[in-house]
Amino acid sequence: MNRGPEATVEQFIADVGADPTRLLDVALAVQRRFGHISNEAVAAMARGLGLHAVEVEDMVSFYAFLDRKPRGEFRIRLSQTPISLMKGAAGIAAAFAACLGIEMGETTQDGKFTLEWTNDIGMADQEPAALINSAVVTGLGETDVPGIVAALRQRPGGEDPFPLKSTVRASLIQAGPLLAGAFAPGDAIHAALAMTPDQVIEEITRSQLRGRGGAGFPTGMKWKFTRKSPGRDHYIICNADEGEPGTFKDRMLFTEFPDLVLEGITVAGYALGARQGIIYLRGEYTYLWDPLQAILKTRRETGLLGTSICGRAGFDFDIRIQLGAGAYVCGEESSLLESLEGKRGAPRDRPPFPTEHGYLKQPTAIDNVETLACAARIMVNGAAWFTGIGTKESAGTKLLSVAGDCARPGVYDVPFGITINELLDLVGAPDAAFVQSSGPSGQAVAPKDFGRQIAYEDLSTGGSTMIFNADRDVLDIARQCMDFFVEESCGWCTPCRVGTTLLKQGMDKIVAGRATRADMLALESTANTVARMSRCGLGQMAPNPVLTTMRDFPECYEARMRPELFVPTVSLKDALRQAVSIQGREPAEAS
Ligand SMILES: Cc1cc2nc3c(=O)[nH]c(=O)nc-3n(C[C@H](O)[C@H](O)[C@H](O)COP(=O)(O)O)c2cc1C
Ligand code: SF4
Repeated sequence: MNRGPEATVEQFIADVGADPTRLLDVALAVQRRFGHISNEAVAAMARGLGLHAVEVEDMVSFYAFLDRKPRGEFRIRLSQTPISLMKGAAGIAAAFAACLGIEMGETTQDGKFTLEWTNDIGMADQEPAALINSAVVTGLGETDVPGIVAALRQRPGGEDPFPLKSTVRASLIQAGPLLAGAFAPGDAIHAALAMTPDQVIEEITRSQLRGRGGAGFPTGMKWKFTRKSPGRDHYIICNADEGEPGTFKDRMLFTEFPDLVLEGITVAGYALGARQGIIYLRGEYTYLWDPLQAILKTRRETGLLGTSICGRAGFDFDIRIQLGAGAYVCGEESSLLESLEGKRGAPRDRPPFPTEHGYLKQPTAIDNVETLACAARIMVNGAAWFTGIGTKESAGTKLLSVAGDCARPGVYDVPFGITINELLDLVGAPDAAFVQSSGPSGQAVAPKDFGRQIAYEDLSTGGSTMIFNADRDVLDIARQCMDFFVEESCGWCTPCRVGTTLLKQGMDKIVAGRATRADMLALESTANTVARMSRCGLGQMAPNPVLTTMRDFPECYEARMRPELFVPTVSLKDALRQAVSIQGREPAEAS
């Protein structure tokens, strides 16, 4: 590297105060500026941050949005999901390929364009969609492609100036109790400041608010544990990784109700005694960086962030945004912490839990974006208002991201307790044949279960709701879901790394009509092993597409079976035995 680029890397390092835990920020800046991270850049980062080059290499190699080799100046990433494919993504891919004269995964000879698939980019209600560098282009038609390519060709490379604007449109279709009604910046903070931090936690506990990110842990309890854990600092982290295919409600909140979320983070900061909040924003949402920074600036200028917030001496709190770099597993809270500390996003062993030993080993509460929006509303409207909505065990509303075969895709703010049938009426899906609820990690719901309620005690969901009519093949969707997990497994533990691939291959065989009943039994056994022996939630949930369709759509498997030819003798347990003997230990038990 000549002195020019090296000086640029040094500047990026200086921008983060040469803090090694900010390695991801430095790497993203290098990637943005140079289009890849060269050996020289790795060496410069290691030198400047006081790390070993291997540590830098280890981190950089983990993330999909960081490249060690040069790619095209314009990176066209088409979203590949069950929804995008049924909305015509394959045709868009073919149109780009024809226009650029390359295949998917290739770079043009002049080094200008790389064309590739990527996993869901959070735009299920406006597919087909693409990430072009950091711009998000939605609602693509094949006829749009030549114009996009021509606009890009006319400009110099890199991000700035960039010829394309993100075209993401508003996604909220129906505001319910959470989102309807006025909310002025400062409302929730003022309400919180009328209470002590312990009283705020008490109010959140009384509201029975549970985490909206999937697991449903009681938020008041999480805040209480975090507040009472001793530490130099306390942290509140807003999990905006939103990687589950089909979900986009957190994006909607950040675009259409940003003050509600930022206020929830600030209230949490007050309750926990934290001085810093961090939003972990998925890399696919980089286009939200500038608007969010502008809102943070306004909040600082109006005394809603910074020192002595709302005139309260000693209440000093600010929020920074950490961009992710394209890794679904980083939504898992312990992987998120690793990523925030500038490392690869591999899950941590627990205990200790983040509430005691989280970001920088300090007590940390990690809450979903929607959870924090709920917390802000609860401050203003009170716990009793919240428990008056929903069901006995599920207070409040749930934001559902609805997409697929329906007339009105978008986000719906509905009280817990709504049935799938009621939801299908609301969104205009009279001929739904199945609903993939809570994304690939969730389950395919059959018509016999459309009377079930969305609630923690019945059909629990993070919000992704993909609707499919009778033209869609439930087994092919399950196969695509397995594809997603193969791509996103971090590879740390064998059951998930090997098992997801075996499950994907099994589904390929079934969908192709080449599987026997014995294959199906072997697949089921593999799925159960992967669920039981994987180290983190990703691997534990990855077999769900296989197991839930086997349980609820047996007739679809039956129809695809070919006559018994032989009985397989391979099992995952046997396949793992060799690895176990080499490592000298059993794979980690599920935490
Ligand atoms: C593989 C995986 C991905 C996850 N992705 C997210 C995510 O994108 N957003 C989120 O809030 N929670 C996600 N979670 C759940 C988090 O680990 C954590 O439970 C959540 O952020 C806690 O916030 P809550 O209590 O408000 O739900 C994920 C979990 C797993 C296992
Ligand atoms: S289950 Fe294992 S391999 Fe899969 S994501 Fe978690 S730690 Fe990584």
